[in-house]
Amino acid sequence: MQSAPPGVIFDLDGVLTDTAELHYQCWQALADELGLPFDRQANEALRGLSREESLAKFLGPRAAEFSEQQKLELARRKNEDYLRRVAGLTPADLAPGAAELLSELRRRGARLAVASASRNAAAVIDRLGIGPLLDVLVDGNEVERSKPDPQVFLRAAERLALPPRRCVVVEDAASGVDAALAAGMRVVGLGPPERVGRAHCVKPRLAELSADELLALLDG
Ligand code: BG6
Ligand code: MG
Repeated sequence: MQSAPPGVIFDLDGVLTDTAELHYQCWQALADELGLPFDRQANEALRGLSREESLAKFLGPRAAEFSEQQKLELARRKNEDYLRRVAGLTPADLAPGAAELLSELRRRGARLAVASASRNAAAVIDRLGIGPLLDVLVDGNEVERSKPDPQVFLRAAERLALPPRRCVVVEDAASGVDAALAAGMRVVGLGPPERVGRAHCVKPRLAELSADELLALLDG
């Protein structure tokens, strides 16, 4: 019996494009306004978390000073700022090697998905111009449980019509690596081993990952 085609599921922010930096700029601006301590290192802890979880971590012990209504307003303003920055993205903001990798994987018959915690994923994909290269998008608007819950990746596999064992995930966040492992998928972690070391394969950045290496993870 012929095995199912391979599926490759990409996280978006921090994998196909460096929107992690845009998120950082938004949180930093809010931190400066509120007089909260924040820096790039603190931002690392927000990678992969949903907007609400990020806000809770961002406010830390000061969360108690804000009513639910005020927290909603802070999240809304952060997102408004983020969308302004997203509007400035162009295909030149794709991670180096991303377009070539997606095209090569398609040429080899892989089915491709993006699975992101972001509720802005469609806008980002649109600005980057990679919509036509993808078969499936599952984003934060259609899942109830955020990573490290496997729901977003299982939903992507389902929509690709592939079993989880035929899917490999590319992730930059510790919570995303854990979600992919919990989904029973192979995982490539992008970034430092302290962050993504639980993945089956670790690379510093996407440009150093080939279609061969990705697909070989599904062999055997
Ligand atoms: C993830 C990012 O992809 O999406 C997080 O890594 C972000 O930093 C999360 O908080 C939610 O994004 P959004 O766009 O819905 O606020
Ligand atoms: Mg990410």
